[in-house]
Amino acid sequence: MVGPQMTLSGASGARDEQARHEQRQGILQFVVVSNSIVERPSEETLITLIGLKNVFAHQLPRMPREYITRLVLCPKHRSLALVKNKTVIGGICFRMFPRQGFSEIVFCAVSSNEQVKGYGTHLMNHLKDYHIRHGVHTFLTYADEFAIGYFKKQGFRKEVHLAKTNYLGFIKDYEGATLMECQLNSKIPYTELSVVIRHQKEVLKKLIKQQQDSIRRVQPGLTCFKQGVRQIPIGTIPGIWEAGWKPSSNDRVMEVDSSVSDLNTVVKQLHSELTSHSSAWPFQTPVDKAVAPDYYTFIKYPIDLQTIGSKVSMRQYTSLQLFIADVQRMCFNCRSYNDPATEYYQCANVLEAFFMARVREVVGST
Ligand code: COA
Repeated sequence: MVGPQMTLSGASGARDEQARHEQRQGILQFVVVSNSIVERPSEETLITLIGLKNVFAHQLPRMPREYITRLVLCPKHRSLALVKNKTVIGGICFRMFPRQGFSEIVFCAVSSNEQVKGYGTHLMNHLKDYHIRHGVHTFLTYADEFAIGYFKKQGFRKEVHLAKTNYLGFIKDYEGATLMECQLNSKIPYTELSVVIRHQKEVLKKLIKQQQDSIRRVQPGLTCFKQGVRQIPIGTIPGIWEAGWKPSSNDRVMEVDSSVSDLNTVVKQLHSELTSHSSAWPFQTPVDKAVAPDYYTFIKYPIDLQTIGSKVSMRQYTSLQLFIADVQRMCFNCRSYNDPATEYYQCANVLEAFFMARVREVVGST
């Protein structure tokens, strides 16, 4: 299944693998042929066209033979032939309407002894690449009840997006059949798609393994509850960010600005409560490089209560959200740099828990 809305399961590489392998070995060939009234077609082209007509006639017994012969030999139609060991074993007959922006798939078949080997899929992929090269990005086809399943797997849908004015009067209407459409994506190399997806899967698996190996670390666990803390933000749990956790909208205290009546009074009050908290001592001033020489190598966005205080005085916090972000960053920096067993780390947890609880009270009371 290789249309723009494909599911990955259909393009796992299994279905068209044999066909691609046989093509590389020269066993299979895909050629576009058509009759011509301007110049005499080569004998090889005529043999291929007759081979195609025979395959279609065998595989589509409900279609009148004369009708198949007429369309296959019609110079306005082209056919993509699948040739195996010099014998035509399948093909797709189509008519391009470049000005109308689509191509009609008229017949599509693979000889019965060669079916379900992935040839039908690879054939359609070749047709897709061929059309992209010719600037046509939509296929239309009338599929009977037996063919709908196959076309669905090739990315066709019953919902037709092409404007009716583009195809009405151009495409043959088949009674009892369903009109299906496939939109092509010009960025996709369809004949290589399953290989590309397989490589992407392999790369993804490696990246996931790398990530898992890097976070396979046992954290010491939370002790702040023993110190009387009743609730802590999820983001303060050791290792949770490294494991890929992202705050959900419920975890954020974001959309609060409008409910805070006097922003500057509130941030001043909160800042004052923070600086006088018993766990605030590691955060009062910027980290001294003499004490922690590598601190500024690890921590790219340092912040501390003194700096936050200056920003409060200069009324730089135009929203409560910005103020909260600075305090959380301060605690996050501390936890990133220090080991969870250290007092610094515990202070960051306690102070942040206190701060977030106060923010909720303040927001709730306004
Ligand atoms: N209904 C539902 N699914 C079908 C199908 C059908 N009639 N024919 C094939 N499939 C499925 C295959 O099982 C396979 O699915 P999978 O990838 O999940 O395993 C997928 O479609 C493609 O199979 P593939 O081996 O690439 O196709 P093929 O070489 O067998 O060719 C046809 C498919 C339809 C061209 C071939 O079966 C055929 O010639 N049928 C008779 C003519 C016909 O009905 N033509 C279509 C209308 S013009």
